Amino acid sequence: MMRTHYCGHLNREHIGQTVTLCGWAHRRRDHGGVIFIDLRDREGISQIVIDPDTPEAFAIAETVRNEFVLKVVCKVRARPEGTVNPNIPTGEVEMLASEIEVLNQSLTPPFMLDDDNLSEMVRLEHRYIDLRRPAMQKNLMLRYRVAKTLRDYLDTAGFIEIETPILTRSTPEGARDYLVPSRVHHGHFFALPQSPQLFKQLLMVSGFDRYFQITKCFRDEDLRADRQPEFTQVDIETSFLEEQDIMDIVEEMIRKMFKSVQGIEFPEKFQRMPYSEAMSQYGSDKPDLRITLKITELTEVMKDVDFKVFSGAANMVGGRVAAICVPNGALISRSEIDGYTDFVKIYGAKGLAYIKVNDATKLNEEGLQSPIVKNIHINALKSIIELTGAKNGDIIFFGADKEKVVNEALGALRAKIGHEKGHVDGRAWAPLWVVDFPMFEHDEDSNRWVALHHPFTSPKDGHEDLLTTNPGGCLSKAYDMVINGWEVGGGSVRIHKQEVQSKVFDALKISKEEAQEKFGFLLDALQYGAPPHGGLAFGLDRLVTLMAGAESIRDVIAFPKTQRAQCLMTNAPNEVDEKQLRELHIRVRQQNTPA
Ligand code: AMO
Ligand code: AMP
Repeated sequence: MMRTHYCGHLNREHIGQTVTLCGWAHRRRDHGGVIFIDLRDREGISQIVIDPDTPEAFAIAETVRNEFVLKVVCKVRARPEGTVNPNIPTGEVEMLASEIEVLNQSLTPPFMLDDDNLSEMVRLEHRYIDLRRPAMQKNLMLRYRVAKTLRDYLDTAGFIEIETPILTRSTPEGARDYLVPSRVHHGHFFALPQSPQLFKQLLMVSGFDRYFQITKCFRDEDLRADRQPEFTQVDIETSFLEEQDIMDIVEEMIRKMFKSVQGIEFPEKFQRMPYSEAMSQYGSDKPDLRITLKITELTEVMKDVDFKVFSGAANMVGGRVAAICVPNGALISRSEIDGYTDFVKIYGAKGLAYIKVNDATKLNEEGLQSPIVKNIHINALKSIIELTGAKNGDIIFFGADKEKVVNEALGALRAKIGHEKGHVDGRAWAPLWVVDFPMFEHDEDSNRWVALHHPFTSPKDGHEDLLTTNPGGCLSKAYDMVINGWEVGGGSVRIHKQEVQSKVFDALKISKEEAQEKFGFLLDALQYGAPPHGGLAFGLDRLVTLMAGAESIRDVIAFPKTQRAQCLMTNAPNEVDEKQLRELHIRVRQQNTPA
């Protein structure tokens, strides 16, 4: 081996030893006569001292530039008094070099590794250098530790890892597919899997009982801080277990993983919240429960007020009027309110009515400062104060629109004001399960029901008849795990009987022919003794991002794509040559030519 120790491992205990280190010159400082090189490897940084008394080493050290790769033979000694650096683990010692070898030179790097204000574009373009930064090394090591711990847990719990195909056909997770043209079959395409959903169900039919896989999934969708076009799932499926059993097993897995990897203690039992409560009180199916603000339902109260915006929404089918009361919010300035009004417009809200509560005993324009109070009768004002629990000095913000718009706007506003104004409960971690999801949601554009989870999700016991009579009221055996406002995992108990599966396809207006064409193999398999089964998948990238305290999942992925689904380092996706296209029977149309 070239080295005897990692740079980052040396400390007082090594004083007096001669060691050989290999690493990168993080920084070189010339202190008139003595040269210092901070030598860096994945474990940390050691300070190398090169004295003119070793002229050969000194001459080489003079040529060293940032990011040169060095091998250094040196003796560990205590740092002179006053030069100890308590900020790094190796800060009590320094290494007096006797030999230096330049193993490789480096061009001047495009950025300084310890510059904290780097543009992400530049970092992604030179990702191999960006990944040298200690913060990135730490993130990827954490990622490895998380995956390893989850794998070990699942192994111990009797799960076996089975690989499933990447070249496959469309899977129904609701995003667009990435397609791969077939050379052999003219005009035919593979789709990359949006998840291994159908294969894992088939593995249950095959009798494997407990499956898992840490695997890539591919979805062509709008990207955000928590979404990548290719991402990693810890994918799980089990047989002969009910909703509660599955949730218990994976809850224990997550609890143990957070504890063993980061020393984080989660509560003994995660809170379980019905979807309907999450939407009505938090405006979101992934509420951040650390934020103490809640949404108050006011639809009934507003049915007969004079303010048309409110009464209109309250009387509309699928409309909602709701409010958020912010304690001490009367101090919020006019310009801040304008800022919040612009903010909710992002979510489709048309405005943000408010009432500043100066004196809750005076239900008029004196006690309640607001442009809308004159149009709201006294009984409604009384109900607003009572239901929101508003006190003097508070502000109440209102949303009135279609339910979806109100939920998204007030849900986002709740989180924004909660963080900005410190309406948080002080917990570092707030994990919960959201349960009792509806089977379907109504898609207005196509005027039909679409699966909220995916079409293989089982209806709740006793809800099967609703599939035909009232799809909108039918609840499912689906569950999501949410941590600090992030959906980290989700799954369901599946349908294991072909008749039920057919009813769901009917509700989704998927014809028999279409179902047979797309999922025939699954429908067939369900008729050959499919066991009751269910499972879920965790987003590994999201779990690690939360644990690392990173802002984007890109920071815990070695080679991520940009928001525009590109790799800036390899320049993928790229054009390919004519010959390759011809073999694939593909012709690229000039941009902007009509279809
Ligand atoms: P779902 O679509 O909810 O379920 O995905 C499971 C988890 O994967 C993560 N995730 C993502 N992470 C990063 N980028 C993305 N684009 C992305 N999309 C999803 C989320 C999510 O909770 N087959 C089902 C699971 C099942 O029913 O067993 C599925 O894929 O953390
Ligand atoms: P207007 O009558 O349009 O001047 O609106 C009066 C107040 O109601 C203003 O503060 C608007 O921001 C607010 N407002 C308008 N439309 C809505 C809506 N759909 N939901 C909540 N507030 C609204």
